[in-house]
Amino acid sequence: MAFGRSRLRRILLILSVIAVAVAAVVGGGFAWAYTTADVSTVGAVEFTDELSVPPLAPSTVDADGTRVFQLDMRSGAKEFQRGKATSTWGFNGDYLGPTLRAQRGERVRVQVRNGLTEASTVHWHGMHLPAAMDGGPHQMVGPGATWTPQWQVDQPAATLWYHPHPHGATESHVRMGLAGMFLIDDDANDPGSLPHTYGVDDMPLIVQDVKFKGAQFATGRGMFADIGVLGDRTMVNGVLAPYRNIGDEAVRLRLLNASTARVYNFGFSDARRFTLVGTDGGLLAQPESLDQLRLSPGERAEIVVRFQPGERVTLRSDRVDLGMDFFGQRFSGGDDRFDLLEFRAAQTLRPSPAVPAALVAAQLPDAGAAVQQRDFTLEFGKINGAKMAMDRIDATVVRGSTEAWTVRNADGMPHNFHVHDVQFAVVEVDGHAPPPALRGPKDTVFLPPGGTVKLALRFDGPADPNTPYMFHCHLLWHEDLGMMGQFVVVEPGQQAGQPPHQHSGH
Ligand code: C2O
Ligand code: CU
Ligand code: CU
Repeated sequence: MAFGRSRLRRILLILSVIAVAVAAVVGGGFAWAYTTADVSTVGAVEFTDELSVPPLAPSTVDADGTRVFQLDMRSGAKEFQRGKATSTWGFNGDYLGPTLRAQRGERVRVQVRNGLTEASTVHWHGMHLPAAMDGGPHQMVGPGATWTPQWQVDQPAATLWYHPHPHGATESHVRMGLAGMFLIDDDANDPGSLPHTYGVDDMPLIVQDVKFKGAQFATGRGMFADIGVLGDRTMVNGVLAPYRNIGDEAVRLRLLNASTARVYNFGFSDARRFTLVGTDGGLLAQPESLDQLRLSPGERAEIVVRFQPGERVTLRSDRVDLGMDFFGQRFSGGDDRFDLLEFRAAQTLRPSPAVPAALVAAQLPDAGAAVQQRDFTLEFGKINGAKMAMDRIDATVVRGSTEAWTVRNADGMPHNFHVHDVQFAVVEVDGHAPPPALRGPKDTVFLPPGGTVKLALRFDGPADPNTPYMFHCHLLWHEDLGMMGQFVVVEPGQQAGQPPHQHSGH
């Protein structure tokens, strides 16, 4: 009996030692995962490479006055890291694409040629245009095929962008490098004294995060990273450690978050203030002074920054509050910090005028005019409980009408919400007036877990009952999983039709 008891005690002791060891390994593993999940490149980037600026796309003007662009999607290779060629895709080049630029009122046509071995599309993010020209998943362009959308530019000056949108593969096509900017000018409503010399004091900045596995892009999601694929380094305009010489007192930066999953919190290394002049769809009524600016994937902002002669200052992304617990915050990249781009100001700077106190007349949709309310509930991979279906129309809106959409993130992870064809007003964020950064024209808005936004949208057509536009989460892995829905614009009294059979352009 005494012998048995001490033997039992010994077994229990051994078992508890094993349990403690297992707990230590699991806990240690977790602690390791937690501590290695946050990334910081602050102070560690040497800024060895000059920032490249995407070239302005050449265009020709047709006999009927249409401005014609050419975009070739092709595969290539680029040396992001010295001596290592990374397989990439690009428009008219190896990585990213040229900047398209057109005037409000102009007719444009783009000859899109798919030189890849798989089907893709080119979507004009933020553009108001007919649904059949939108470049969503219904306008697939097969390998070797050409698609030639055309439309009349009919919206205020803005920083828009273009990227593929093939259902289920958008994330990988964008991550391979297919993205570019599309700038709209509106000379008749130009406030005048904003910096406007492309590539000099008016700088497009396409911001992406990236992770390499040897020479190639890594594609795997990190542990617990439900948000999507996060990189451990950043690139601006496809350059990993960029600097840019500055010759003007004030520079306009057109920031585009072209990452597939990462949310940035832009600011400067010395915490200087900058002036927000535009959001996704164009200029604000009045500029806003900020020291930090959050942009989730797909969102844009135009800011004006002032420099002192001879100084160096770094554009940085700081920790961003994703509205999650410490665990989610860490594994979704909220704790990460990045040095993005170093500005090197010349000893003598060209003088720049101050940003005007009023920019453009406000022209946002008015929620008071809404004739239809709709609710959208976001959950991982679904909107209103359903995954995207190519042959299901989720909403039918009447041309010329204003609607109020309430979008709620019912999930434990962040999402955002993007609507094609329109620029909406953010009317409320969690029942309150929106912060300054959300007071301009928007087409994409961030939603932390539990967050609710109320939007006012005006659908000015044209009607096409058979061809849908998309609304979706712009975290591209989520979009690919089916976190997307479709709406059509119809004439009063008209019914939604049936999306046409999918076909590849030729
Ligand atoms: Cu930027 Cu539906 O996309
Ligand atoms: Cu879009
Ligand atoms: Cu999402």
